[in-house]
Amino acid sequence: MKKSHIVSGLFFVLVAVFSGWILFRHNFRTESTDADDTDSTESVAFEEYVEESKYRNVGIKKEISHDDTYDTHISFPVFSNDEINNQIYKYIEKQRSDFLTLHDEIKAEPEDDMELNISFEIFQINDTTYSIAMSSSTYGRIANPIHNDKYFIVDTSNHHFLDKNNLFDIEQQELFKKKVKENLMSQPNLDIFEDYLDEELNSNNIFEHLYFTKGKAVVQFSQYDIAPGSSGKPKAEFTYNELSNILKNEWVNDLKIASKKSHSTPDTDEEFRESKESIPDKSPKEIAEQGVKQVAFTFDDGPHPTYTQEILEILDEYDAKATFFVLGNNVDFYPHIVKETYNKGHEIGNHSWNHPNLVNLGEDQITTEISDTDKAVKKATGTITKLYRPPYGSHNEAVDSIVKKPAVSWDVDTLDWQNRDPQAILTNVREQTEDGSIILMHDIHKETVEGFRLSIDYLDSLGYEFVTVSEMHE
Ligand code: NI
Repeated sequence: MKKSHIVSGLFFVLVAVFSGWILFRHNFRTESTDADDTDSTESVAFEEYVEESKYRNVGIKKEISHDDTYDTHISFPVFSNDEINNQIYKYIEKQRSDFLTLHDEIKAEPEDDMELNISFEIFQINDTTYSIAMSSSTYGRIANPIHNDKYFIVDTSNHHFLDKNNLFDIEQQELFKKKVKENLMSQPNLDIFEDYLDEELNSNNIFEHLYFTKGKAVVQFSQYDIAPGSSGKPKAEFTYNELSNILKNEWVNDLKIASKKSHSTPDTDEEFRESKESIPDKSPKEIAEQGVKQVAFTFDDGPHPTYTQEILEILDEYDAKATFFVLGNNVDFYPHIVKETYNKGHEIGNHSWNHPNLVNLGEDQITTEISDTDKAVKKATGTITKLYRPPYGSHNEAVDSIVKKPAVSWDVDTLDWQNRDPQAILTNVREQTEDGSIILMHDIHKETVEGFRLSIDYLDSLGYEFVTVSEMHE
């Protein structure tokens, strides 16, 4: 952000313009949700995001919006406490308003691939306390992507944020800054701009960059803040022992309890290892009888704590199979739903971790988006994905060669994210579906569940067989 990497910026723009726009214009911007079109069950269903989650007291929610000249995909944690939710939401609103201001200032055009992606990482410190690392990225016709990160520490047992400004006494702050600098400057793979680091440290907002995990304190900077973009997000990590003389006693006590407790925190790996045994052998699909028409339903952006399971029930009623292109961060929160989906014989495809436009990313970031999602799916199901669907349908040869999976498009667009209308979904299915069609829906909208029910009932009456994408390709 502070350094002007014009060359890499130009590269992004060129890739976006020539590859993203010219090659894939017809697919682009066909998928997302209007944020203003509020889900009617949102406030009621809020608790379900938390209750269904693997993380105690925290769920994940999405806000997706769409315009001719930009896309936004926002993932954020939700708690069963309005005060905490409001604080997190304040950060999101600030990022969104900055993004829209920039969008207006540069008079963005569709070919600019203007994109706001906000996501987060969650680190469990103890049974009820989490670090939330929010991360916002803006891409488009700008010299460099703009990154803005913020770290919250939330105690969900009594619903409050831990005040990091109260971590250590003033005189210890200087010592801590020194340790951070030594740590960062000694990492051989980092190319730190010392003057920028000093500036950050002297600006006294060191706490802004600090969060905790089960065993460590981490000071992390945004990409481009103190090093070239190739250094990623530079971070200095310390064990609690290393900081025992620096942190105030009450914090040391809290965090020590936390690190002891980490052993008793339910380890989901164990859970999933057991689950593998219950996964049935999937024999290859029998070759379809001649003359039987086939169609593949595909559902993107899930799993959702409620709607995915409702769709699974409908699929069962018709003895139908479908393909779910999941987002890794949703899988992380709701792995049991992905496991159930897979165990029922449906296909799980990769839709990236947090839904960025892959054309806007570098090779390492693309690899991480796909492989982290595969890891989450493997944890949940015991297998990795064979297929991927690029977010926004946006990809090019470079992206495909990095992902190393076939990209799956669609020929029937139900526009469910836009119309939010079961009858309109059915109309699109009626008008566009033929033998061999791949139908696009999103299992994160209430109306899609009903639209899907109408659609599968209609196609069933025409004698269609419902298969996964891989089965149809066989
Ligand atoms: Ni999507």
